Amino acid sequence: MGTVLVTGANRGIGLELCRQLKARGEEVIAACRKPSQELQNLGVEVKEGVDVTDDASVQSLSQWLGDRKIDVLINNAGILNRDLLDDEGLFDSVRWQFEVNSVGPLRVTKALKNNIPSGGKVAIVTSRMGSIEDNTSGRYYGYRMSKAAVNMAAMSLSHDLKPEGVSVALLHPGMVATDMTGHNGISTQESAKGLLDRIDHTNLDNTCTFWHQNGQRLPW
Ligand SMILES: NC(=O)c1ccc[n+]([C@@H]2O[C@H](COP(=O)([O-])OP(=O)(O)OC[C@H]3O[C@@H](n4cnc5c(N)ncnc54)[C@H](OP(=O)(O)O)[C@@H]3O)[C@@H](O)[C@H]2O)c1
Repeated sequence: MGTVLVTGANRGIGLELCRQLKARGEEVIAACRKPSQELQNLGVEVKEGVDVTDDASVQSLSQWLGDRKIDVLINNAGILNRDLLDDEGLFDSVRWQFEVNSVGPLRVTKALKNNIPSGGKVAIVTSRMGSIEDNTSGRYYGYRMSKAAVNMAAMSLSHDLKPEGVSVALLHPGMVATDMTGHNGISTQESAKGLLDRIDHTNLDNTCTFWHQNGQRLPW
């Protein structure tokens, strides 16, 4: 892949992506708000203070990078609130999940797009919970809405970046054992391996196909 920048790299899926990328010999830039000890122990380059909801922080990442080439940008940072229709603070929760999960990846991609060369890739770690067709159980208003919105952002990005030779990978990591799920689900190792396989297979012909990391195509 070359140089890969991962957001939300301090824990969970992002941390494991960095670990596997380093093991493959890629040059890793691990962007996070605050590094964890595990991330520091990986021996990859860490850029801290990167909050995907904050313009100044993302601009300072862009300035720090200068004209450095990023072959693959992995927008991984995200949050999940388990909203119910009767929740008191439902709308604030929905708004905040949009800020992190939908606007965040768009903000980072917009700021770094000039660093991504022809042949480069933008990956977005979304969720099948953002699939309208796949929603058979309701609830999770902000998470589902914000992931559906980032899926749409990914489709627009795929059209806008295609002339630059940049493809977009839209990826569901599976149900993964991280803080987000109370550590229920498949291992971060299995998920990250599948995600990297899918990114490896992303190109301008299949740009913005919605994939489960296990290779299954997901409905919109
Ligand atoms: N786990 C699953 O089963 C699952 C399923 C489908 C999709 N996903 C998606 O996979 C991605 C990673 O999730 P995970 O399971 O690894 O979750 P996680 O363990 O909770 O980690 C979330 C990561 O996102 C970062 N983050 C949150 N808000 C941020 C912000 N404003 N700016 C920068 N970083 C921020 C966190 O950093 P802090 O430590 O600073 O908070 C952390 O590094 C998310 O996009 C999630 O929606 C996960």
